[in-house]
Amino acid sequence: MALGARLPLGLALLAALIAVLLQLYRLRKPRLWTLEELSIYNGTDEGLPILLGILGSVFDVTKGRSHYGPGGGYHHFSGRDASRAFVSGNFTGDGLTDSLQGLSSMEVNSIVDWRKFYVERYIFAGKIVGRYHDSEGNPTKYLKGVEMKAKRGAQLLEKQKREEDKIPSCNSKWSEAEGGEVWCETGYPRLVRRPGDIALTGQVSQRCACFQERELGRPGLVVYQGCDYHSTSCIVK
Ligand SMILES: *[C@@H]1O[C@H](CO)[C@@H](O)[C@H](O)[C@H]1NC(C)=O
Ligand SMILES: *[C@@H]1O[C@H](CO)[C@@H](O)[C@H](O)[C@H]1NC(C)=O
Repeated sequence: MALGARLPLGLALLAALIAVLLQLYRLRKPRLWTLEELSIYNGTDEGLPILLGILGSVFDVTKGRSHYGPGGGYHHFSGRDASRAFVSGNFTGDGLTDSLQGLSSMEVNSIVDWRKFYVERYIFAGKIVGRYHDSEGNPTKYLKGVEMKAKRGAQLLEKQKREEDKIPSCNSKWSEAEGGEVWCETGYPRLVRRPGDIALTGQVSQRCACFQERELGRPGLVVYQGCDYHSTSCIVK
């Protein structure tokens, strides 16, 4: 005789209830992944979903198989957390890492923006235990540091935008035959550093902006090489 038949009805109901609750709990609790487990969901096996990690969060990108599957432009991101590559564009060897060491705050902010993109368009599928989440799935110090750095990057970007709204950018054109030219309808072209931090490449971001006569004494304005102080257009080599 089966054991179940002997159980009082109340107890059986209770057991069923507990089973349902456990199931609900499992559904609510995001699944925790190791990088090794994640690695088989890289799109090569058509029977498996395609998963991608970014900042330790996992997303199901199966509906984007043409991009994330083999041969797709984003295939490098599948089955791993290659957060750094979202800004470095380095998809070879150690370039495919989740380490953000040495990136500027604006670059880190750009990766956080990418995560937002996945949150909005794809299905969240859990967290990776490692650099960004501990074995309980809680954010690590590293993740908190990244979030803070991204916030600073976002502020710098805001500042950059405000400044660029105040001082218009130069017009510009470029052709293979004639090279580049920048010019201003009103004011004088000057090369200026954008507010912001130094990028991974070591390059500071610059732009051409049109300054009025009375502003030309400001520090940090560079006259284009070979261009007259009061010229309204300059050839760019
Ligand atoms: C890609 O996934 C397949 C199984 O789906 C696995 O055999 C293969 O090792 C994975 N490739 C990498 C680079 O992890
Ligand atoms: C990509 O990253 C690896 C490891 O950091 C480095 O050795 C390689 O030079 C990088 N490639 C490019 C194109 O930056």
